[in-house]
Amino acid sequence: MSDITSGQSGHSVAIYHNNEALAQAAAEYFASLANQFVTQKGSFTVAFSGGSTPKVMFALLAASPFRENIPWQSIFIFQVDERCVPPDHADSNFRMMRETLLAKVPLPDSQVYRMPAELADHAAAAQQYSQLLRNFFAARKSEAAGPHPNLPRFDLIFLGMGADGHTASLFPHSAALHAGAEIAVASYVARLNAWRITLTADLINNARNIAFLAGGQDKAATLQKVLQGDYQPELYPSQLIRPGAGSLRWLVDEAAASLLAG
Ligand code: 6PG
Repeated sequence: MSDITSGQSGHSVAIYHNNEALAQAAAEYFASLANQFVTQKGSFTVAFSGGSTPKVMFALLAASPFRENIPWQSIFIFQVDERCVPPDHADSNFRMMRETLLAKVPLPDSQVYRMPAELADHAAAAQQYSQLLRNFFAARKSEAAGPHPNLPRFDLIFLGMGADGHTASLFPHSAALHAGAEIAVASYVARLNAWRITLTADLINNARNIAFLAGGQDKAATLQKVLQGDYQPELYPSQLIRPGAGSLRWLVDEAAASLLAG
């Protein structure tokens, strides 16, 4: 593993030999933070993105040695974004997370908060999830607020990055990029001709820890633009992710990092 600090406000970038090493490091990071926060405050709140990258990490977390060394009973799992399909649909991020992780670890179903993205009224689905998070975190007011004191503050948020520079379901030139201090919004993705529900950049930036996972040659050009290019968040929404009072680390593989300078 090699480490570089990018030009953009000192993000740390850890580079791993391949996708498997990247997933191993991500699983170790999750386990370390989960044990740290549960020891410190008795709970750990984490939001996961979907897509393909997290699958290998989920499989590691669901197996030995991670499975028996993580305090699942004290962890609360949320979603970063979801496709507007039923939870058993092949494209559902929740279905992927349920099959590769949730069904295999002793985490109570009551501690998993799924985005109701199957609702026909997408705005209502986003509002419902926003209220759920507001209620959940309001009951835990004791935790130190982040830069957006009126927004929930996650202990950890895992993000991916698309080859077009999107993260969560914050796609280039989409209205969701300008959601302001909302928690979650519905986002129409023209390129996909599809609706998504997504956490907003302000909500994500309020987290204590954010980890981007990005692997593969197809992301190399975009990763270089996101980390070392001009600040153009309409084109590269991943650049919106700049936590006000939290850590941001990129875990990437050598292929994705192949065009990074330094
Ligand atoms: C989704 C994800 C999305 C993902 C990126 C990267 O719903 O697809 O939440 O933001 O993180 O598209 O996807 P891959 O991991 O498949 O490259």
